[in-house]
Order: sequence, then structure tokens, then C-alpha cells
Amino acid sequence: MGSETIYRATTTAPVNIAVVKYWGKRDTKLNLPTNSSLSVTLSQADLRALTTASCSASYTGGDSLLLNGENAEVTGARTQACFRELRARRAALEAADPSLPKLSTMPLRLVSENNFPTAAGLASSAAGFAALARAIADLYELPASPAELSLIARQGSGSACRSLFGGYVAWRMGDKADGSDSMADQVADAAHWPEMRALILVVSAAKKGVSSTSGMQQTVETSGLFKERIASVVPRNMAIMEKAIAERDFPAFAEVTMRDSNSFHATCADTYPPIFYMNDVSRAAIRAVEQVNAKAGRTVAAYTFDAGPNAVIYYLEKDAAAVVGSFYHILGAVEGWKASTVQGLTSTSAVIEEG
Ligand code: ADP
Ligand code: DP6
Ligand code: CO
Repeated sequence: MGSETIYRATTTAPVNIAVVKYWGKRDTKLNLPTNSSLSVTLSQADLRALTTASCSASYTGGDSLLLNGENAEVTGARTQACFRELRARRAALEAADPSLPKLSTMPLRLVSENNFPTAAGLASSAAGFAALARAIADLYELPASPAELSLIARQGSGSACRSLFGGYVAWRMGDKADGSDSMADQVADAAHWPEMRALILVVSAAKKGVSSTSGMQQTVETSGLFKERIASVVPRNMAIMEKAIAERDFPAFAEVTMRDSNSFHATCADTYPPIFYMNDVSRAAIRAVEQVNAKAGRTVAAYTFDAGPNAVIYYLEKDAAAVVGSFYHILGAVEGWKASTVQGLTSTSAVIEEG
């Protein structure tokens, strides 16, 4: 084949929304966290990154990334770390079999598109780097397992390591300095708890003022409350959450989800100067969940917020009418409802305009 040959692979990766949050790095170069975390992988039919990776000896100008139609940075240390790891694995295959084309030496072109707001607290970096790692691994025909890709994606964005698995996923913080034990594993597949649903309320699609990367670093450096969070709050929440998932105990799952979100946002408020990711509409969504639960006389819904104002509400299918109906009623001004299934989870999303 001539030097004009273009090699190409396309993949999608889902978003995951943590119920025990990752917030804080012990190693900023390797993206090693200060605590373990646990998330639910959402439907790829709703929120996903779609990434095509290609390479060719005819490509000039080095590696590139077109994100949502605009040129994006690939020179960042974390994107470079992903490229380096994947190229090294391809180079090893090429060394073992000289008949293979030398893809590892060719410039990489990535084209990616998120079908939901980017950098708005809906885990675009998680879906984005999971898709990036998998697309390049496919392009290079690497025999990489989800666990191995999880180690690579983690170096792009920490939360991305969890998007390589479906269902309920833990990121074990590990304790090795080289990060070789800091990766995700599946706690339970989606079929284990098929009634679980996620309602996504897009409060604002705007790019956040403080990125997750920078926000968590400021928290690590200045918050006293954060020390308490990583020493005792998160270990306790992880243990209760894994048990709640194993036993399909929704009230326990819900309480930890809400408490952990509140704990994470409290450390943001305790950061100096403080960081505020939630806004008035976010707080109205919290009150709405409380009203829904009070009206039902039991816990039927749980809210959680990542580093942004947008709410994710977990509930069980049997309570869909009570939860989704009440949200519609309480918050009003809701547009764009959609429902679909992926990863075994159905998620429903709605757009709530601010103001
Ligand atoms: P979010 O809350 O959406 O995860 P972050 O601040 O963690 O926000 O990360 C946003 C950054 O993640 C973007 O500025 C971009 O650098 C990267 N990113 C988002 N989507 C993709 C994608 N599809 N492919 C590659 N990188 C992406
Ligand atoms: C609040 O994974 O986006 O969503 O590793 O710096 O890219 P980097 O940060 P990122 O942080 C996610 C923070 C969170 C909680 C979570 O997803 O666990
Ligand atoms: Co992110």
C-alpha cells in the first residue's frame, strides 16, 4: 500500500456520572486520585462522544484534534501521555511483526463530537478521553482490554477511566507511584439493577468558569474540609455504596449519592477563594427532589451534581411517574424530553432554561 493510505477507526464512549465523586489528585502528572470513586455509566444513545482516529504517512503538520468542529489542543501533557502509551503498544506489535504498516510513526488525526454540552459538568472529559483511547487502540489493532484502556484513558482525564465499563464502576485509587494499580473495575453490570434510571436536567450548557482539573487542585491546596472528606467521608461512602448496589437498596444508594454530592460541593465552597458550581436552578432541583421524596413518603429520587450546575437525578423505573411527573410539575419550563436505552440504562433528559 502506498504512502497515501489512510487508516481509520471510529468509536463512541458513554458518559458516567459519579455517585461517589473523584475530586483531588495526589499526582497531577499521572492523574492519580486522592480517593477512590464510583459511578454509573449512562446510555450511549443519549450522552456520548463519537470519535474517529486516523493516521497516514501522507498527513503533514503533526497530530491534531478537531473537537465539535473546532481545532483543539493536542500538545497538552495529558493528551500526549495517551498518544505515547498507545503508540508504544503499537510499536511493540510492529517490532514483533515487520509486515505490519508502521502506524506508530504516522501523524494522528482525531475528529470528535459530543452530542451534549462540553465542559459543562456532564462528564465530557470522561466520554471524550474514553473514546479517544478506544478509537486509537482500534486504529492500531491493539489487543487491549477495557482495564488496560482504563489505565490509558485515566491519564487523559481521571473520570474517563470509568467510561470504559458499563453499569456500576469503581475507580480504585491504588497506591503505586507509577499508577499501574489506579484503574476502573466493574462492580456490577447494568443488568444487575435494570430498573435504574437517570434523568438529566440541563440547567446550563455554558462552559464552566473553573475546569475540573484546576478546581480540584485549588481544593487540594486550600480546603481543610477536603482532608476530612478523603480520610473518612469517601471511604465510608464507598463501602455503603458498594453494599447498596450489591443489595439493590435504592434508599441507601440514594442517600449516599446525595450526601456525597453535597460533601463534594461543600469542599468547593471551603476552597479559598471558594468555587461555586451549582446555581439557583441547581438548588431548586435539590428542593424538588426533597419534595418528591416527602410526597412519596420514601426515597424515590436522588440528585447529584458534577463540577457544573446540571443535575442528574437517579430513580427506579417503577417510580418514573412520580419522579419525572413531579419534576415537570415543580420546575416547569421543561423542554426537549427524550428517553432511550444503552448500557442497559434508560435515561431521560430535559432542558431547563435558567431564569
Ligand atoms: P466536563 O465536566 O465536561 O468533564 P472538564 O473540565 O472536566 O469538563 O473537561 C472538559 C475538557 O475535556 C474539554 O475542554 C476538552 O479538553 C476535553 N474534552 C471534552 N470532550 C472531549 C472529546 N470528545 N474528545 C477529547 N477531549 C474532550
Ligand atoms: C466532579 O475527570 O474531569 O466530575 O482528571 O482533571 O480531567 P481531570 O478531572 P475530571 O473530574 C471529574 C470530577 C467530577 C467527579 C467525578 O466524575 O468523579
Ligand atoms: Co470532566
